[in-house]
Amino acid sequence: MSEREPIGVIGTGWVGLVTAACFAELGHRVVARDIVPEKVAALERGEVPIHEPNLSELIKRNRERLEFTTEIEPVLEEARLIFVCVQTPPTHSGDADLTAVMRAVEEIGSGGRRALVMKSTVPVGTGRRIRDLAKGFAYVSCPEFLREGTAVKDFLEPDRVVIGAEPGDEWAADAVAAAYEAVGAPIVRTDLSSAEMIKLASNAFLATKISFINEIANVSEEVGADVTEVARGMGMDDRIGPRFLQAGIGYGGSCFPKDVSALKILAGNSGYHFQLLNSVIEVNELQKRRVLAKLTKHLDSLSGKRVALLGLAFKVDTDDMREASSLVLASRLQGEGATVVAYDPVAEDRAKELLSDVEMSKSPLDAIDGADAAVLVTEWPEFAELDWAEVAKRMNTPLLVDGRNFLDAEAVRGAGLTYEGIGRPSASEPQT
Ligand SMILES: NC(=O)c1ccc[n+]([C@@H]2O[C@H](COP(=O)([O-])OP(=O)(O)OC[C@H]3O[C@@H](n4cnc5c(N)ncnc54)[C@H](O)[C@@H]3O)[C@@H](O)[C@H]2O)c1
Repeated sequence: MSEREPIGVIGTGWVGLVTAACFAELGHRVVARDIVPEKVAALERGEVPIHEPNLSELIKRNRERLEFTTEIEPVLEEARLIFVCVQTPPTHSGDADLTAVMRAVEEIGSGGRRALVMKSTVPVGTGRRIRDLAKGFAYVSCPEFLREGTAVKDFLEPDRVVIGAEPGDEWAADAVAAAYEAVGAPIVRTDLSSAEMIKLASNAFLATKISFINEIANVSEEVGADVTEVARGMGMDDRIGPRFLQAGIGYGGSCFPKDVSALKILAGNSGYHFQLLNSVIEVNELQKRRVLAKLTKHLDSLSGKRVALLGLAFKVDTDDMREASSLVLASRLQGEGATVVAYDPVAEDRAKELLSDVEMSKSPLDAIDGADAAVLVTEWPEFAELDWAEVAKRMNTPLLVDGRNFLDAEAVRGAGLTYEGIGRPSASEPQT
């Protein structure tokens, strides 16, 4: 038995599983509970149900410190600190759905010197409400900032750890801070509502940065600038920084869309109209659709055309398909009468559950075979390695839209393809 504080984790999705594995790596015994028996059974067999770099290795290495269970009792018996990592998806109104959170709160119940540590992203005010409702335990807000694809590294080397608590719950905040001590990150100790707001505001700000550079890309297309050069020059300014300045086909994933919407709705419910976020959301929606215009510029009509999507996941190094731009793109293409064929190295299974009538290929070359156009959706490194001459030969029309500005435009054009990036000068015809 480890000398470090035992940790309970509720929910073994992206955040819960990474939290459990990383605390085990830091030397804690961890009891992780999920209500989906198949998920728990798979974890017990040593299978990791999500694609996340280094996670399997971490779980394997710390297996003796990790217990997976469908029951709540082992968590309550062993842990004082219980990290709640359940889903908070948007409701029809755009608010965060707190059903899973409230169920977890009920299950943790009262009695014993326990702390509920909220890792799920919740609306500002949730912590204070739960604390008033359920007086049996201490409550700490400890929002998670990990990014899928680099989640393990983000957890173990965070920029900061935010810990929010109200007077009376200091012991619990101290215990959470002690559990995080080993990661050596700055700790932001604050009140509950400010901690909750730090999470929502951080995601909304990053989404704003993305929509901003996407609009600069769109204007650059009109006036003959290259957004990759613009972003390079802007990013060197310390006040701006280079990250989240990559123009593309819009942000997706399980966090940005829902958290931006949740903050906008939270503001609205409190009587404040968050004008800027309306634009951030609208720009993002339109950005996904601009790919269609880039295709029709060269193909006239998309009806009867075969379009290959290279990548489906919302970002590289994950198989998460929640709010992936590829979903909107595939539907719009099908709506225009195109046949959609796709390849993704890891997201195929999850994508199949969400896409209908999309033909899945086993390799990028299979996907582009006979295609009238290809759209690079996810920046998987293998796409940069493609033999573009072979791609041009296999396609019916050698047209490529690089939705991530990921490829070497000159190399692609040099191989005989028509290349369209986002916010980059377009050459109307292939060079050979
Ligand atoms: N995914 C990310 O990149 C990320 C990053 C930061 C924050 N967050 C936030 O963290 C939270 C979790 O996100 P996620 O992506 O890990 O969600 P997820 O849907 O992948 O996982 C949630 C898990 O909780 C389980 N669950 C639900 N109710 C339960 C209960 N009562 N007891 C035990 N298990 C239960 C579900 O079965 C599921 O496995 C969300 O609020 C999200 O906004 C996510």
